[in-house]
This record gives sequence, structure tokens and C-alpha cells, in this order.
Amino acid sequence: MRVPLIAGNWKMNGRREDIRALVAGIRERFNAGARVELLVLPSFPYLDFVASTLEGSGIDLGGQDLSERDDGAFTGDVSAGMLLDCGCRYVLAGHSERRTLHGEDDQTVAAKFETALRAGLKPVLCVGELLEERDQGRTEEVVRRQLGAVVDRVGIAALADAVVAYEPVWAIGTGRTASPEQAQSVHAFIRSQLADESATIAGQVRILYGGSVKPDNAVDLFACDDIDGGLIGGASLQVDSFMAIAEAACP
Ligand code: PGA
Repeated sequence: MRVPLIAGNWKMNGRREDIRALVAGIRERFNAGARVELLVLPSFPYLDFVASTLEGSGIDLGGQDLSERDDGAFTGDVSAGMLLDCGCRYVLAGHSERRTLHGEDDQTVAAKFETALRAGLKPVLCVGELLEERDQGRTEEVVRRQLGAVVDRVGIAALADAVVAYEPVWAIGTGRTASPEQAQSVHAFIRSQLADESATIAGQVRILYGGSVKPDNAVDLFACDDIDGGLIGGASLQVDSFMAIAEAACP
């Protein structure tokens, strides 16, 4: 059985004191015996600090991005080795804000995914269509291409340790969530694409939904067969909403 994963993508938000309070609140409310895993994804400058405040909590730490290259003369970039050294177990690859604002294409995302795996990090591959692509009926084509680029590069067996996050771009930060039916249909499609290569891996990989998940829509989303948790942006910045979402994922 897949254990649900709830990941808080803090994006470029917060300062040390906000983060200290947020982590303290999450720790206080998190029941390490619950059948749900928690992951927080702070900005790079705070990784070390968050790692120290999470110690002994059972809550995982991850980076929001990584360089596809190994250490060297790459000003402003952060390597997989550095993330590991700071206590990360996970890292996002291909978040739509990276794809859109930083021009990351499928090949770059696949290279980042491979670099993360090679270093021993668990990559969370983000996929999802733009509104105009959905309106043109191209959602499955886009998601197939984004996932296919990674599977072609690393091979299906490498996906055993990975997570996929379906995040329709039109639902991110807009307050407009995919309906449970819309989300489940794409999640099932992603799982069937993986199953074409390996039914075992397809059954293991956690597929998270992301895009305006809030406490009041989380229960219905997480009740869907192929939705194994969430990648939470805005609602992960408040203890109450993040933990209410985490509680919604506990069967
Ligand atoms: P949101 O962001 O929950 O604020 O829509 C989700 C994400 O971008 O990961």
C-alpha cells in the first residue's frame, strides 16, 4: 500500500522567525504514528536551519530545485550533493514555475531528475498542463510527454524511488482546483503510462495532486484511488491549514 505523502512547497516565502514558528507548529501537531508522511520544502538559504529544527521529528526535508550538473563553476546553482549535505531526502524537479519562469524544458527536467537520483535524493517530478492545453483537449498528450522524457532518460526501474506530482498549471495559486474527477482521471492516466512499462513500479509510485489544495477540498481529492497525497503551496504556510490537509490524507 502506498503511504500518503503531504509536501509543503514554501516557494520563495518566509523569514527565519516565520519558519521557526511554522516548523514548531507542524512538529507539535504531527503524530509520527499516523499513516502519512510529511515533507517540507524551504528556500535554499533556510535548509540548514529547517534541518536542525526538524531533528528527531520524522518529518522530511527537500529542496525546491537543483542543478542538473555536479559541483563546479555554476554561479547561483545548487547541487544535489549540497542538498543531501543539508539533510534533504527529496527534491522537486520541473515545478511549473521553473518550467515557465526559468525556461526549463523536458530535457532539462529529465537531466535534473537523473542527477537527483544519482546522488541518492528522491526526485518529485512535477507535470501538468496549461489552461489553453486543457481547453484544447491536450492534457494527456502534455503529461505523457513530460513523464515520457524522464522515463526515456532514466528507465522505468529508476522510478521506484521517485514521486510524481500532477499539478495543472491553471490550478496553481489560483484558488481554482481540479475537481476530484478531473484529477483522478489524469492520475489514472499517469499510472497507466507507468504500467505500460512496469505494473509493479506503477503500483508503487506515489502520485501527488497539487494546485490550490485547501482543507475543504483535500478530503475529496485524497479519497480518489490514484491520488496519494498532495503538493501544497499557499496552504502549507499556515500550521492549521497544512495540518488539516495532512489529517485529511490519513485514511
Ligand atoms: P498552491 O501551489 O497550493 O498554492 O496552488 C501548489 C504548488 O505550486 O506546488
